[in-house]
Formats: sequence, structure tokens, C-alpha cells
Amino acid sequence: MKTRQLHADQPDDLRAAEALLRAGGIVAVPTETVYGLAANAANPEAVAAIFAAKGRPADHPLIVHIASAEDLALWATQIPDDAYTLAAALWPGPLTMLLKKAPNVTSLVTGGLNTIGIRVPAHPVLQHLLQSSGLGLAAPSANPYKQLSPTSAAQVMSKLDGKIDAVLDGGDCSIGLESTIVDLTSDVVRIVRVGPIAPSQVESLLDRPVAAPAVHQVAVPGNVDQHYQPRTPLHLVARQDLLAKMKLADSGTAFVVLADFAEQVPGSHLRIIRMPVSKPDFARSLYKTLYDLDQQGFEAIWFEIPPQSEEWLDVNDRLRRASYAGLDP
Ligand code: TXA
Ligand code: MG
Repeated sequence: MKTRQLHADQPDDLRAAEALLRAGGIVAVPTETVYGLAANAANPEAVAAIFAAKGRPADHPLIVHIASAEDLALWATQIPDDAYTLAAALWPGPLTMLLKKAPNVTSLVTGGLNTIGIRVPAHPVLQHLLQSSGLGLAAPSANPYKQLSPTSAAQVMSKLDGKIDAVLDGGDCSIGLESTIVDLTSDVVRIVRVGPIAPSQVESLLDRPVAAPAVHQVAVPGNVDQHYQPRTPLHLVARQDLLAKMKLADSGTAFVVLADFAEQVPGSHLRIIRMPVSKPDFARSLYKTLYDLDQQGFEAIWFEIPPQSEEWLDVNDRLRRASYAGLDP
């Protein structure tokens, strides 16, 4: 299959992307979080093509993206008031809600579950596609199974060229990490994936406690521990141990530190990448940094453990999943 490279600032290209989606094609599209691999959520063959392109097991549910909360009842049923409260405050934006699936929705999208993940994305290009097509778009992150999520069209192409109909380039993603997922299907509201919307924000909007395990323990297909991984082994290291690691390292090792790491680095042969100390800037460049390092053939990446405050929960979650620590015997 030839993958077309479309540009969202070209009206003809935007129309071409919409036509492909209407015809059952699969198109990588920009969102404010990461690029998604989109298809018409009501077309079973199109949804099946997403799973095939990603190499994703069929029981891993997809998120359905819709134009606005007004369309919620097309996809979900028994929608609690909490959903509308969160939607009013946080949509469009990086929040996915798990709700009871409407009976008419194909369970291919939900991996056979009777719940469905729904998000109203904020990215203007995807908003335009949703509104003008009138479709609901199933879209997982546009990466092969278990690999890093892409935050640019070039990253999508590097992994999925030849496997998808098109990529619609809408520039770099402004947030750079996947949405927060909140489960509203039972009495206890639960964060099942930490993300750009903090648990405390959900709590204050709903005015009650929300279960937010720092380590995911919810048995949901797709919520696997080794996930978001670069190919190069990545190890997390505390700041006080960095210098010792650097002293022992050779040029086959890359170090990623926060930009305020002020120690004198031992030796000019070492590859040191300095990450922004502002959380939003850090998040925006995290996957790109890992992608770039992966291209460069290092034997290992040593990554400084970022701050542990609530603001950095999602960064810490993704880095823990990206690290090889979980694979050690
Ligand atoms: O920011 C995002 O959420 C991006 C953009 C493209 O919207 N999408 C994304 O999709 O990260 P994906 O498929 O890579 O991750 C979605 C996660 C998976 O871990 C999946 O298991 C979970 O959401 N999920 C989706 N529907 C679910 C459901 N009904 N029940 C439990 N988990 C669900
Ligand atoms: Mg993903």
C-alpha cells in the first residue's frame, strides 16, 4: 500500500483525508496529545484495518473520537451526570471517558467489552474532520503495538509507511503525552491512565474522591506494563547517582538529564541531552527525544528520574513503562 503524505494546511489534502475516512480508509491524524490512527468507528472493516496496521491484539479497545459531547448518546448509554460535568469543563481536550457502550456500536471497537472510551479532541484539524465528516473516529495512538506514540507526522511515517492509507500532517502535537482516561462505569470514579488532566482536577470538578493508582492495577487489555518502549534499553536513575554512572560510561551510552543538572560532566565523549524543566515543555519533547535517541544506535539510555509531584505523574508513568527495569529477572 502506498501511504499518501497529506498536509492539513492544504484544503485539497484535508478533503482527501476526509474522503479516505468516509471510504473506510485508515489515516493518521494529529491530535493535541499524540498522533492517532483514525478510521470510521462505525465501519467494522475499517476498524479491523487499524488493528492489522498496528499489530494490536483484537481485545485491546480503541478510543472513539467525537466532535462534541452532544454526540455522546450515539456511542454510550446510561451516561452519568459526572460525564457531562467533566465534558463541560474539559472537552474538547486530553480526557477520555469510559462509559457503557451503546448497543448499536460494534464491539470490534471496544475489543469485545461492553464499555467504550470516548474523547472530544481539541486539535483544530481533527475537530474539522469530525465536524465535516459527521463520523465518529476510532483512533489509537499511531504506532506499532507497544512502541512509542508519535508526536509528529514524520514519526508516524518512520513506523507505518506502507501500512496505512495516509498521514495528515498537522504539525507537532502540543501536549505530547496520551490523554487521561477516567472510568465512569462504576460507583467509584477511577483514573485508569494518568495523563495531562490531573486526578485532583477531576476530583475537584466532581467534588468527591477519585481512585487514582500511581501504578495501574486495573486488568484492562492494552494497559500492559511494558508499553511505550523505545528499542534502546532505557534505565531510570536518580540525580544523585548520575555522576557515578557518567564516570563509568562510554560513548555507547546516552544520558538524559533535566536542564538544571549543574554538575561538571566527566568527559567530553558523553552524549548528554538536557530536557526542559517546565513540565509541559518536557512532556512535549519526551517522545521525540526517545525517538531520536532510538535512531542513533546507543546501547543504553540512562534517564534522570523527573520530579515526583502530581504535575509530573503522567511523565513518570510513561517513563516507568518505557524503562527496562520491569524486564529484569
Ligand atoms: O491521547 C490519546 O488518548 C490518544 C489520541 C490518539 O487520542 N489515543 C490513545 O489511544 O492513546 P490508545 O489506543 O493508544 O490507548 C488507549 C488506551 C488503551 O490502553 C486501551 O486499553 C484503553 O485506552 N481503553 C480504550 N477503551 C477502553 C475501554 N472500553 N475500557 C478500558 N480501557 C479502554
Ligand atoms: Mg497507544
